[in-house]
Amino acid sequence: MSFSHPQSRQTEDADALRGLVDPKQGWLDRSIFWDPAIYAVELERIFARSWIFVAHDTQVPNVGDFLTTYVGEDAVIVSRARDNKVHVFINSCSHRGNRVCFAEAGTARRFTCNFHGWSYGLDGALSGVTAEHLYKNNPTFDRKKLGLHKARVESYGGMHFANFDPDAPSLADYLGDFRWYLDIILDNDEGGIEFIDGNIKSRLKCNWKFPAENFIGDAYHATWTHSSALLALFGKVPEMHADRSYQVNANGHGWEFGTDFVGNAATLCEPEIVDYLRESEAMFQERLGKTRSRMVGSLSSATVFPNLSFLAGHNTFRTWNPKGPTETELHTWVFLNRNAPDALKEKYRRGVMLTFSPAGVFEMDDGENFEHCTASNAGVVTRRRKLHTGLGLGSEIDHPELKGHVHQNQINEANHRAFYQRWVDLMTAPIWADVPAR
Ligand code: FES
Ligand SMILES: [Fe+2]
Repeated sequence: MSFSHPQSRQTEDADALRGLVDPKQGWLDRSIFWDPAIYAVELERIFARSWIFVAHDTQVPNVGDFLTTYVGEDAVIVSRARDNKVHVFINSCSHRGNRVCFAEAGTARRFTCNFHGWSYGLDGALSGVTAEHLYKNNPTFDRKKLGLHKARVESYGGMHFANFDPDAPSLADYLGDFRWYLDIILDNDEGGIEFIDGNIKSRLKCNWKFPAENFIGDAYHATWTHSSALLALFGKVPEMHADRSYQVNANGHGWEFGTDFVGNAATLCEPEIVDYLRESEAMFQERLGKTRSRMVGSLSSATVFPNLSFLAGHNTFRTWNPKGPTETELHTWVFLNRNAPDALKEKYRRGVMLTFSPAGVFEMDDGENFEHCTASNAGVVTRRRKLHTGLGLGSEIDHPELKGHVHQNQINEANHRAFYQRWVDLMTAPIWADVPAR
């Protein structure tokens, strides 16, 4: 498949893209997982227009603190400037395009380019130019226009997101009802959360959507793919109960969950973590109500569209950063409640290393599946048939307490279909005003 130039995208491109997924019936064209032309449209229409998570407040607590990450494949710097606000700008010099920061994180007064020495402030503005007198009376040299390309930055519950589209909706509108669910993680305690120092990075030879869709709603795989790891850790595979579990989604963001309260947390194999959750249950219930409080550490997983996923109970956030159509760079963080006992910090860190790090017992199982799916879908005959993602069609219910679209039974693919609905909405909409709220 090929597409016309982004600026002159034709209606036939939109029709071709629309034909790739059928979110109502649950069919996916395999090319969305490997075709470079589709991937090029994703970078432009999804990653360059969506709110992309870049940092938690506790990762850049003081003026001068910064980290480097990605929005799609674009390298960015996330920095706390002298106005005490978090700024996000492209990590590429306005002169020849060199990176102006090569460190992963640190504290700086400015960012200085290696090549000819231009320097930029903590807010991305051009602050120093080598031998600036050479530009005197130069009609095209305007310091104000030569700062680093800045993103909009908005935050929710201490989570900072960046967006390069001036016409995108606010972060609050983008998240919609999903904010109410994020509060389960971000606001179950008045102190909020903190990210534990350090960020694990690893590469997977898979399309970025496989892990994103896995976390948004693939409880189906859990007791099969991870059965040997679960048996090794517990001697039994936990049960999921259709009548006490759900998938919820809003605007393409989704969470699949049981209401077992500590199912995920128990797999960290640190009994003190489960004790802490049980001791805090009354507080969670008071802040979140009955049903949401049961989700604080339950068997569950979630994705904020497009590429921020998290696990309640395991206390890990992660982003799936695209590196080409068939490669993904995974960034993983561990978090905990700021008010939790200090002794739990190390236990959460160790528990996530055991389960959801590159060497973790669950993550290794998952990575293998994502990589094999990506590779096999590209076969010239294989690609002729679509993939079925139809589990749980017709399972939407009204729930007296839960917001957004609610589907009975976490073993379901309703959230996959919602994810691909949002995907195709964005891929085919020339402007944000054409993207419907879901
Ligand atoms: S490329 Fe950065 S100063 Fe020339
Ligand atoms: Fe998994």
